[in-house]
Amino acid sequence: MNKRDFLRAAAGSVGLAVTDVAALFAEVRGVPSGDLARDEAFWARIRAKFKLKPDYINLENGYYSMQPQEVLEAFIAHVREVNTEASFYMRTRQHPNKAAVRDRLAGLAGCSPEELIITRNTTESLDTVIAGFDWKPGDEAVMAEQDYGAMLEQFDLQARRYGMVNRRVSLPLDPKTDEEIVDLYAGAITPKTRLLMVGHMVNITGHILPVRKIADMAHARGVPVMVDGAHAFAHLDFRIPDLDCDFYGASLHKWLGANLGAGILYVRKDRIEKLWPIYGDKAFADTDIRKLNHTGTHPVHTDLAIMNAIDFHESIGIARKEARLRHLQNHWTKQVRGLPRIVLNTPKDPRRSCAIANVGVSGIPPRDLAKTLLDQHRIWTVGIATANVHGVRITPHLYTTTAELDAFVRALKEIAAA
Ligand SMILES: Cc1ncc(COP(=O)(O)O)c(C=O)c1O
Repeated sequence: MNKRDFLRAAAGSVGLAVTDVAALFAEVRGVPSGDLARDEAFWARIRAKFKLKPDYINLENGYYSMQPQEVLEAFIAHVREVNTEASFYMRTRQHPNKAAVRDRLAGLAGCSPEELIITRNTTESLDTVIAGFDWKPGDEAVMAEQDYGAMLEQFDLQARRYGMVNRRVSLPLDPKTDEEIVDLYAGAITPKTRLLMVGHMVNITGHILPVRKIADMAHARGVPVMVDGAHAFAHLDFRIPDLDCDFYGASLHKWLGANLGAGILYVRKDRIEKLWPIYGDKAFADTDIRKLNHTGTHPVHTDLAIMNAIDFHESIGIARKEARLRHLQNHWTKQVRGLPRIVLNTPKDPRRSCAIANVGVSGIPPRDLAKTLLDQHRIWTVGIATANVHGVRITPHLYTTTAELDAFVRALKEIAAA
């Protein structure tokens, strides 16, 4: 089914809002993304596509990305459509539609559709891989203290159940070279290592890790690599095969702007066969990735709405999106880096971060800092105190203005000076 047929079929009788964001970007065709990133008047028109709460400045868009109104309305239309057709939809259209969405996501990810499934989120994707290994006592896995808790706990569960061993490295906050990071992971690999997990973008600091170099190093030692792409997918301009990883998981409700409960799992073709599914499904061969996707009856309207999120995302273009998000982060971090009491927990090198950064004020617990920002300055953030990271995570969205970030900078300086 081509995209036009799919959209017609997906729209059914309810009709869908078709994004006009493409027309906006057509006006600026040819403008380099770095220049456009600084054009506040242009981005104000994108901001108008979101319905924002006036009560606070939202700088906590890392949990999940608010959807623009037209993508939200399309999602609601899909909910109505599926409800109207009920089991007719499930029995006749569910599977071809899901396959069409998977094909389009594979296009976005740059991989074969036969290496990709739609999941509910990164947790489901990566936990499927971690639990899908046939761990033996003494087997080892390598990961970082700064990795996401759900995955670390899933590894801990395997350790309890099978006697495998987890080795955790601790990432520096401001590495000077890629080799510093690669060597850190290399130092944790032993002849018993069977899997290495690495974050593409560390969620608590926004640190972008040199995943390709880590994968090359691990592969040279015979170790497969699983990448946590929760924050990198549809945020950074890359294709999964560029990373040469074996497994990649991401959430689509973060930077793609799909509705809550959408994710992807990529498994390189030659790695599918040995992975045990969590749920039984005899319909597919051991070499077919769909064997990992039997999660039972689920909100299928989500699959349909992913198409609308991709439309919006592609209308913007990943290079322009990445440039704007990095500009927003640099706009505020360059104003506070090096000031007394202010501790940036995100690398200084602009290539090592994008939208997300983390900042602390020495002597103030992160939770208190977040509370002061909300109570006294109406700025919504999240306090993080994990491993070597103590600060609030600041995550602008496409709708964020530099004026909002300036308000945050003023608040931070005032708090640090008190
Ligand atoms: C790095 C990282 N991995 C995994 C996850 C889990 O994502 P989800 O809750 O969508 O499964 C998150 C969520 O914030 C994350 O930041």
